[in-house]
Amino acid sequence: MCGIFAYLNHLTPRTRKEILDLLIKGLQRLEYRGYDSAGVGVDGPTSNANITLVKATGKVKQLEEKILENKEFLNFDGVHTVHVGIAHTRWATHGAPSDVNCHPQRSGENNEFVVVHNGIITNYKDIKQFLISKGMMFESETDTEIIAKLIKLIRIQNPNDGFRQLVEKTIAQLEGAFACVFKSTSFPGECVATRRGSPLLVGIKAESALESDHIPVQYSLDEDPRMVKHGASEVAGSPAPRKKTSAMFRVDADQTEEIHPSDGDSVEYFFASDASAIIEHTNRVIYLEDDDVAACKQGVLSIHRINREGDSSREITTLKMEIQQIMKGNFSSFMQKEIFEQPESVVNTMRGRINYEQETVTLGGIKTYVPEIRRCRRLLMIGCGTSYHSAIATRQLLEELTELPVMIDLASDFLDRNTPIFRDDVCFFISQSGETADTLGALRYCKSRGALIVGITNTVGSTICRESHCGVHINAGPEIGVASTKAYTSQILSLVLFALVMAEDRISLQARRSEIIQGLRQLPDLIRKVLDLDGKVLTIAKELYKKRSLLIMGRGFNFATCLEGALKVKELTYMHSEGIQSGELKHGPLALVDSTVPIIMIITRDCVFTKCMNALQQVTARDGRPILICEEGDTETMKWSEHALEIPRTVDALQGILTVIPMQLLSYHLAVLRECNVDCPRNLAKSVTVE
Ligand code: M6R
Repeated sequence: MCGIFAYLNHLTPRTRKEILDLLIKGLQRLEYRGYDSAGVGVDGPTSNANITLVKATGKVKQLEEKILENKEFLNFDGVHTVHVGIAHTRWATHGAPSDVNCHPQRSGENNEFVVVHNGIITNYKDIKQFLISKGMMFESETDTEIIAKLIKLIRIQNPNDGFRQLVEKTIAQLEGAFACVFKSTSFPGECVATRRGSPLLVGIKAESALESDHIPVQYSLDEDPRMVKHGASEVAGSPAPRKKTSAMFRVDADQTEEIHPSDGDSVEYFFASDASAIIEHTNRVIYLEDDDVAACKQGVLSIHRINREGDSSREITTLKMEIQQIMKGNFSSFMQKEIFEQPESVVNTMRGRINYEQETVTLGGIKTYVPEIRRCRRLLMIGCGTSYHSAIATRQLLEELTELPVMIDLASDFLDRNTPIFRDDVCFFISQSGETADTLGALRYCKSRGALIVGITNTVGSTICRESHCGVHINAGPEIGVASTKAYTSQILSLVLFALVMAEDRISLQARRSEIIQGLRQLPDLIRKVLDLDGKVLTIAKELYKKRSLLIMGRGFNFATCLEGALKVKELTYMHSEGIQSGELKHGPLALVDSTVPIIMIITRDCVFTKCMNALQQVTARDGRPILICEEGDTETMKWSEHALEIPRTVDALQGILTVIPMQLLSYHLAVLRECNVDCPRNLAKSVTVE
């Protein structure tokens, strides 16, 4: 998905090379989100009366090279005491990847207004038509260009408006999802950022300590940006807005007196789609809410909204993320690093939540809601892709330990129906990023019907986090590889912990709880043992990587591993792969089986073991030669195959956490052998913020 990075330095002298390096580094941190072109917008080489745009189709590396090639023109040595630079990685939605479609998009040839945008403007065609009727010419196929042109028109109609008011009036016309950062030659040194539906955060790095943890929100109730309409009811020029003094977030100890940076304080602001681009500069950030307009003028940040919905201030949060967490270290890819991090990431998910001696489990984020959840009519678990698979992986245990009906749904499919939702439903929204558009859409649907909303996410401050009534942070640490690995095992674990909490007062379930809690204690060591299979998995990958298809079969607690394994193989290797419920074999998939088709079968000694053995015999009877993922020392099962990956035994409900790891390793090795980009598979993005 697209990535935004912008940098404003106020009274912090920076050479133009430093600024461009910083913008490029910011984009590199966002590369994992997926993109096909990149661009930057900075002040002109000798004056801020113009803006220079540099764009490149392809990788950020190509943009970096283009900047280097033009270093004379770009005046690398020039110094700016105050400057705004904006940058973007684009993931094509409207118009093919090309320099002209790449952002920043501009208002006209003189680059008066330039904008970077994530998301999709759904009414862009109407606005474009209107702007064309006003004589505006378009150069790109993007929806974004209408934003740059529209603000220009609003500026013509409202010459006395400040930058922030112009942006407010512009976004009032937009429908769809967006996060935008604007820069303008008419407002040098100023920057305005806003969002609706797409994430955006502001990092603050100030010489003097930030004495307040909150920045108040200012409301523009008396200024109605909807006055400027496109189309028939257009009002030629809106009334001059009432001037307001900007709110200061840097206030003195009693939080009343404003401190103006023109006192000599230097300050830097970073705007980004996610924290990984900001963390190396500062850990103090503000997550913008939908329809917030954040304006930086003379080094002062203020946050405005049209309406009084939501909190009256925005918290300045301290990021817990460490820079090492977003570096690859000695691994060849983020995905490989993240697979091997799982012994630690599961510990982080469990940290402080389990008392193994007393066999108690505490989930602080939902603690006060547990009585209400126990009384609910049913549990709904909703997510997309891997997150959805974590719901499949835990449904059986949730049904067993909560004794409630558990429905699971793909968010996109859920939204395609008018699913009845009731006030006494409890709806779980599972999302690593916490920003997935479909999941968020389903959340809002359920919330509007009065259900209790529980978020299960890995991203503190994400939209799903903020819009949930309560939730569980999976604490897996930043996941950069597009393919989700450690987040999956931590999602399963978080839901297992939830099931344990729900069963705490059920006498009849204590033995089962105890078995699982003790199983959790062993889990990190067992994961390490599974990771030791890496060499063996590579050998298998070498036999498989030229094949066209891979079938993965299993049932019960391991069915989710089949789906998740197949998803990993598909997204990373572009091979066809299918997860098959072994119980369904005779209903169709058995027809695929012969001596040539690659098959993996997952068979552990749980309550469906005998059924799995039947499936194994059906497959081998059709000359199938399956590779097995089975339990350590299970010679009875292993004798049916030339290749077996032996995983240590654990409680049935936790088995899926172990059986998925060989599949993660296999898809990784297959991708490397097939020379695919492991961290950024083609056509995919880490965070899918559009439907
Ligand atoms: O951020 P989310 O967990 O909401 O993302 C949902 C899916 O897009 C995601 O899990 C996707 O399926 C993975 N990239 C697959 O590895």
